[in-house]
Amino acid sequence: MTITDSVTYKQTAEFGDDVDLVAEPVADPRQGNLFGNSFPARVNLYPQLRFMGSKFRLLHWIHNVISDMPFKSAADVFSGSGCVSYLFKAMGKKVSTNDFLNMCATVSKAIVENPGFVLSAKNIEILLMPDRRRKHFIEKTFSGIFFSPEDLRFLDLVSWNLNKLGGEYERAIALAAMIRSCVKRQPRGVFTIAGDPEHYKDGRRDLLLSLREHFLEQVKVFNDAVFDNGHKNIACCGDVFDWSPVEPVDLVYMDPPYVPRADDNCYMKRYHFLEGLSCYWVDKKIMHETRVKKIEKPFTPFSYRKTAIKAFDDMFRKFRNSILVLSYSSNGYPDLAELHRIMKRYKGTVDVFKRAHRYHFGTHSTVKRSQVDEYLVVGY
Ligand SMILES: C[S@@+](CC[C@H](N)C(=O)[O-])C[C@H]1O[C@@H](n2cnc3c(N)ncnc32)[C@H](O)[C@@H]1O
Repeated sequence: MTITDSVTYKQTAEFGDDVDLVAEPVADPRQGNLFGNSFPARVNLYPQLRFMGSKFRLLHWIHNVISDMPFKSAADVFSGSGCVSYLFKAMGKKVSTNDFLNMCATVSKAIVENPGFVLSAKNIEILLMPDRRRKHFIEKTFSGIFFSPEDLRFLDLVSWNLNKLGGEYERAIALAAMIRSCVKRQPRGVFTIAGDPEHYKDGRRDLLLSLREHFLEQVKVFNDAVFDNGHKNIACCGDVFDWSPVEPVDLVYMDPPYVPRADDNCYMKRYHFLEGLSCYWVDKKIMHETRVKKIEKPFTPFSYRKTAIKAFDDMFRKFRNSILVLSYSSNGYPDLAELHRIMKRYKGTVDVFKRAHRYHFGTHSTVKRSQVDEYLVVGY
């Protein structure tokens, strides 16, 4: 059976593949959503993270699909970079986020759960104040692997001073700003290869600034992204199967990793440094035999052929009392027809929305493989 035999596609207005988000009609972001069901202008303030599988460039399309659905609360249970949660928040929904990476939960805490706290000039002064008692773990562990010794000392210092900040949201903003600074300063934003490869030194500003300079810019970016949407939103860290909402949620958005065809899709392999930084490597098991000092990857059943189908079934069953919205792409496993069948066990109607999408990850030789059809599978 082919995919199209079993699945009916819903049409949505098509945006060009290379849609320039900033070219959409823009209201003053600080005024929130002035246009009812139109795309919330505030989303333009979201601090985009280069994150594998990020749906940032699909937010207009996702909004287009879900904006007429009857929901007041939403959960984003594989929140990643947090952009979909941020869209829900900007749409005025009560939002719950979850991800098993602490770095993801930290970013969501800073801009989704945070009801309006920003990092003040005084807070920044505290974070940058020299302190001889600080630890040297990052400098000792990663010298000669990532960044310059001065950059690493800066991360040790700010990590130490974080505890001097009074509030959890101020700490989350500082951490999120550190994370985004490291992503910008690191060639390609990933931590798979040690050193500072010469061929990336192309004069790009992001690769020239120190982490301290990046940090000061990123604090402002995150401060600007903070807002209160009037709801008590919440960001959690844990496995999706251990997570339950405090109150029932109307809509659950699921964007799990998929079984890799050829490339490794491991988040920890790419982002272990950011994951460690988000908690100063406390309780993280470093694989010292690896050149880049990776952290052990957590198991997820969505990454293996043997376990993926059952994982989807278990997940749809777990959230069957909510509207189900699954992001899925044509290079994933299981195939669309199978996923449609599984969701049909729990939902009377399952619609599929389709859009061409090009992922920007990968080198020139893999660009072809990263051209996929992106789907939203909606069960209600
Ligand atoms: C495709 S990404 C999500 C991308 C996100 N929607 C965005 O736009 O940035 C998948 C995420 O699922 C998380 N993840 C994988 N397995 C998980 C599990 N079993 N429980 C919770 N989170 C998991 C990963 O850490 C990763 O952040």
